[in-house]
Amino acid sequence: MSSSVDFSEMSDDVSQPTSLVIEGLSLNVNGVDILRDISAVLPKRGITTLIGPSGAGKSSLLRCINGLQQGWQGRILLDNQDLQEWPGGWDQLRRHVGLIAQKPCVFPVSIRDNVTFGLTQQQRRHGDLVVEQSLHQAALWDEVKDRLNSPAVTLSLGQQQRLCIARALAVAPQLLLLDEPTASLDPGSKQLIEESMLLLAQQMPILSVTHDLEQSKRIGNYIIFMCEGKLIESGEMKSFFRQPQRLESKEFIRWSVCDC
Ligand SMILES: Nc1ncnc2c1ncn2[C@@H]1O[C@H](COP(=O)(O)OP(=O)(O)O)[C@@H](O)[C@H]1O
Ligand SMILES: [Mg+2]
Repeated sequence: MSSSVDFSEMSDDVSQPTSLVIEGLSLNVNGVDILRDISAVLPKRGITTLIGPSGAGKSSLLRCINGLQQGWQGRILLDNQDLQEWPGGWDQLRRHVGLIAQKPCVFPVSIRDNVTFGLTQQQRRHGDLVVEQSLHQAALWDEVKDRLNSPAVTLSLGQQQRLCIARALAVAPQLLLLDEPTASLDPGSKQLIEESMLLLAQQMPILSVTHDLEQSKRIGNYIIFMCEGKLIESGEMKSFFRQPQRLESKEFIRWSVCDC
């Protein structure tokens, strides 16, 4: 098995086109290789989990995909559009690629204004509808529908994380990136976010970093395993856990350590 797999060939729906194509992505910062020749493909729908030890380059990869990290080599295509030539540049790209961090980052405004934050004037005409839909999709609507004008900072951490997801969804992204989205949350919030991700993945591709291999098995369709900036193995989730191809993968599944 090659270290990079075209997931679209493994999808239940073989005709499903790809969403994200990463070709030979390398990132060097101040002489240090952070990403080394990463190639991977994500299908149009479904959850791909990104695993690997701390420092593997997982967050850096997400940051390259949404344009927060620039200066990389290689090619990234989202729905056939080269990110380096994205119409309107990196700021516009970020409207199409939602990135949710581990620590929720809500703005010091109301719950409603957090959701509508990134909307254009045109989209704001349907603001109420967008707010309701996005909060529903993020599994938060029932908890906040009667307090949309309350400050977002009054929400619990788990609710704030779901609000961040709602804010990302409000601008109808083409791809959702999540960086350890449930790592600091209680089990109830974690379950709500996983359920929300499963529903969203029916409509869009999701790439989610996790250290939780059980979560990866529970919600992921595909997996990418990285270590020291390299893609070690990628493929369909069940095969990866049943029959990992690389020794490093076997060890990581068993001990959560990698000696690559
Ligand atoms: N902007 C940066 N400048 C210098 N080093 C960085 C930068 N971003 C990440 N790194 C380094 O790159 C490596 C990968 O980091 P990161 O992508 O955060 O890994 P992970 O998310 O897998 O833990 C780490 O050694 C980190 O210190
Ligand atoms: Mg990280």
